[in-house]
Amino acid sequence: MTFMQRLVDFFTRKSAVSKGGGDKAISKQKAGGKMTARERIAALLDEGSFHEYDLFVEHNCQDFGMGDKELAADGVITGSGTVSGRPVCIYAQDFTVAGGSLGLMHARKITKIMDHAIKMGMPIIGINDSGGARIQEGVNSLAGYGEIFYRNTLASGVVPQISVILGPCAGGAVYSPALTDFVFVVDQISKMFITGPEVVKTVLGEEISMEELGGARVQAEIAGNAHFFANSEPECFRQIRKLISYLPDSNRQKAAGVEQKKPKQIYKLENLIPKDSKVPFDLRDIVRALVDDSDFFEVQELFAPNAVIGFSRINGETVGIIGNQPLVLAGVLDIDASDKIARFVRFCDSFYIPIVTLVDIPGYLPGSDQEHGGVIRHGAKVLYAYSEATVPKITVILRKAYGGGYIAMCSLHLRGDFVFAWPTAEIAVMGPEGAANIIFRSEIMSADNPEEMRKIKVKEYTDKFANPYVAASSGYVDAVIAPEETRDYIAHALQISRNKEVTLPSRKHGIPPV
Ligand code: HXC
Repeated sequence: MTFMQRLVDFFTRKSAVSKGGGDKAISKQKAGGKMTARERIAALLDEGSFHEYDLFVEHNCQDFGMGDKELAADGVITGSGTVSGRPVCIYAQDFTVAGGSLGLMHARKITKIMDHAIKMGMPIIGINDSGGARIQEGVNSLAGYGEIFYRNTLASGVVPQISVILGPCAGGAVYSPALTDFVFVVDQISKMFITGPEVVKTVLGEEISMEELGGARVQAEIAGNAHFFANSEPECFRQIRKLISYLPDSNRQKAAGVEQKKPKQIYKLENLIPKDSKVPFDLRDIVRALVDDSDFFEVQELFAPNAVIGFSRINGETVGIIGNQPLVLAGVLDIDASDKIARFVRFCDSFYIPIVTLVDIPGYLPGSDQEHGGVIRHGAKVLYAYSEATVPKITVILRKAYGGGYIAMCSLHLRGDFVFAWPTAEIAVMGPEGAANIIFRSEIMSADNPEEMRKIKVKEYTDKFANPYVAASSGYVDAVIAPEETRDYIAHALQISRNKEVTLPSRKHGIPPV
């Protein structure tokens, strides 16, 4: 072949394979409101930055009529590119090719790009849109999944791992996203489940739609498997780009700082914290008042909303924000909130992101649902994660810090590096009502007017303990500060923690209460 013929041959081959599953399958994909795998990559990455690898990989299955079947790029597009100039590795399953099903070569393309991300130190983004294990390839498909799960585990805490569910993600395939750091879902498009509606019907006799079983809302609100919920694919891609902006490329460096900005909102205690300590307020207002440009990028906003987690910046530096949300269940820690907080602490700690904890917590949620669901085990995760984390840890107690909640929310005892308290802080074993009812029970019961006596005793307890000064007198609070001093105290704490060094006891690894 002449040089020109070779070039023509190359472009012909490339164009054939780049068409994915063909016009009919692409039309079906679009009719379902979905973009194609290539469109998704183009929309997510910086324009023209995508470099594709392994376009010409082919499957080698001979069974069930597969021998002469051509599957373009074996149903997955892999490569690297940039997001706002930052390098990322990416793969996108192509549902138009055999339903994006995962065969051995498809899996090898994915594990190859994952290995690349781990070796070079950059985030890996996986766009999932697949009918799961390619049925014709049998155990080879299962082997492929196993290799992916193994890589996910190796990459954990080394490079940020992002999963995007833009179609079905069925059966064991869900476990790759579950092993990654952040899962993105899109309303009406994402479907994640271990066993589909048909199996549920056969085994349990229960009729349930795919949407109700494992749609985007279910994953983001109830199951907590998803961290970000979007109404459209473009919105989802904007969220991913924003997330990446806060993160380092890998655990080999800290997140790059950006230009410092003041908060947009000026705040006053009397405006943000109600006078009555039982009246709720939105913790996110406090966060916005503290952080650069009042910009708070909330993670798992819809799941366990009694806890708030997310990324912000203070003086240009990425911080992880964790807080109790008084608007929901008074901000108690329950099973889901504990899981949510503990996992986020571990993520921040892995990637050198300092943690700012804002406390207003009445304690752990009581009740048999919680006890039987394992609130002891789940709650312990928070203690473990905070204790183990060695990044700078800054805690501000805004209002209530009662009982186990006080200890768990990054108290000095779990090695919070700085614990500040507002004058409105109440640090005690429990709320004054509960405390007075227990320790003054006999005096209250035997009084002529028990209700009157209860009030007197509640006031007595409140005067003694419902303030930050008892804790401050023991050195458990480093400084009682006015709210308007908070940003400055946090910024200074971050500045002087840059070279923080902590050595944990030597061990293979700890055993967190998972
Ligand atoms: C091979 C598959 C496939 C699969 C879909 N296709 N799933 N081919 N293996 N797993 C093919 C279809 O045959 C069809 O090919 C094309 O992809 C599009 O599929 P449709 O069914 O037409 O699409 P749709 O109606 O949108 O339904 C999508 C779906 C459904 C809900 C995902 O295809 C489905 O239920 N697939 C099987 C899901 C499943 O049970 N997977 C195995 C899970 S177990 P043609 O040629 O007709 O266009 C698993 C184990 C992993 O994954 C374990 C890891 C530990």
